[in-house]
Amino acid sequence: MIKVDTSHALLKEEILSYQEEVNRIHHMMFQRKGEGNEFTGWLDWVHAYDKEEFDRIIMCGKKIASMCDVCIVCGVGGSYLGAKAALEMLKGNYGTTDPEIIFMGHTFSATYTKQVLEYIKGKSVCINVISKSGSTTETAVAFRLLQKYMEDTYGDSAKDRIFVTTDKTSGKMREIALQKQYEMFYIPENIGGRYSVITPVGLLPMAIVGIDINKVMNGLHAAYEDMKSSSLVDNQAYRYAVARHILQKQGYDVEVLVTYEPCMKMVEEWWKQLFAESEGKEGKGIFPCSASFSTDLHSVGQFIQEGKKVLFETILYVTGLEDDVEIPYLEANMDDLNYLAQKNLSWINKMSFEGTLQAHEEGEVPNIVVELQGLQAESFGYMCYFFFRACAMSCYLLGVNPFNQPGVEVYKRNMFHLLGKPGYQ
Ligand code: PA5
Repeated sequence: MIKVDTSHALLKEEILSYQEEVNRIHHMMFQRKGEGNEFTGWLDWVHAYDKEEFDRIIMCGKKIASMCDVCIVCGVGGSYLGAKAALEMLKGNYGTTDPEIIFMGHTFSATYTKQVLEYIKGKSVCINVISKSGSTTETAVAFRLLQKYMEDTYGDSAKDRIFVTTDKTSGKMREIALQKQYEMFYIPENIGGRYSVITPVGLLPMAIVGIDINKVMNGLHAAYEDMKSSSLVDNQAYRYAVARHILQKQGYDVEVLVTYEPCMKMVEEWWKQLFAESEGKEGKGIFPCSASFSTDLHSVGQFIQEGKKVLFETILYVTGLEDDVEIPYLEANMDDLNYLAQKNLSWINKMSFEGTLQAHEEGEVPNIVVELQGLQAESFGYMCYFFFRACAMSCYLLGVNPFNQPGVEVYKRNMFHLLGKPGYQ
């Protein structure tokens, strides 16, 4: 389902020279001996997940869908980006979900929050609040507002419309859910936020909009099987990890994830969090950013082609798409576009990909092409596991813990001090 082509960036021999190092890290990872190994539950989650809870997610998704016009999914970071990425990739950009999903809890913006609270008035609403720690401030503040709205609007039956995804044994969100009798789903202790989209964190929002989460798990399973070997010829995730590692050593400190489908925009955001929080520590790491082509060829394309040579591109190119649009023939041809008549937009998009790849190669920008088959639930599951494995391998090659994020705490400490949080004055 994923094929990695590194020929536009490096020689095959350069990549294969890392085989021994990759074998060592692969075994270390599966023997749970690497740094942060207590957070590697995602590695074989496809075999370890709780099947009863999985069935409950499917049933609950249907129940929520039948109950409301709007479901608010409240979370931030790893408790937000994956679900939004899945919904946009699999359901498109144009409000094609039923119920409508609105995300909250990822911002302190009063403007955004007020707009949502105004928008939901008079609509039938359910809430899925997601927080592993149960104390993330953005999410907790939004949830406090939503909880009040729900209790004011629905009285006692508000509890039947609020669903909590959190830690099984600790945290404020768990305490609230127990006290208020909200239905709960659990984030495994051994899976951190940015690796959690394949748990109830992402699966419940997907089930609510009717995505077949069995197929997501099938994709995860296929990826698990395909990535059993540590061979750099077979294991596409490791080949990608090694290629980006070599490029970074050559001085390319910025990676641009490029997509050619607007529905992949949130996948870009999800990917950025995964790699930035995992790799960017101890003064090391590649800065991950993204671009949507051909749109951004009319903005950042200039820098990529001719700017400072600090970046390489990873093109996440989706093949086998079902939808197409034919360009009509017009007798008058006033726009001079008849040379494209009867051609499909998918073909034009592909030509823009090929033309850009060539141009950027001429501009001496290394390109890794990651070809993903289809925009289906299986491809989503497969793609997530591919990037998890590539990210963990990249971090270990770099010598950093892929699963902590000590830097994130610094802004929180300062903000808590300014907000006057007890214990931070
Ligand atoms: O990847 C991570 O660990 C973070 O981005 C968290 O997901 C994010 O801070 C939200 O945390 P929580 O789920 O505890 O509210």
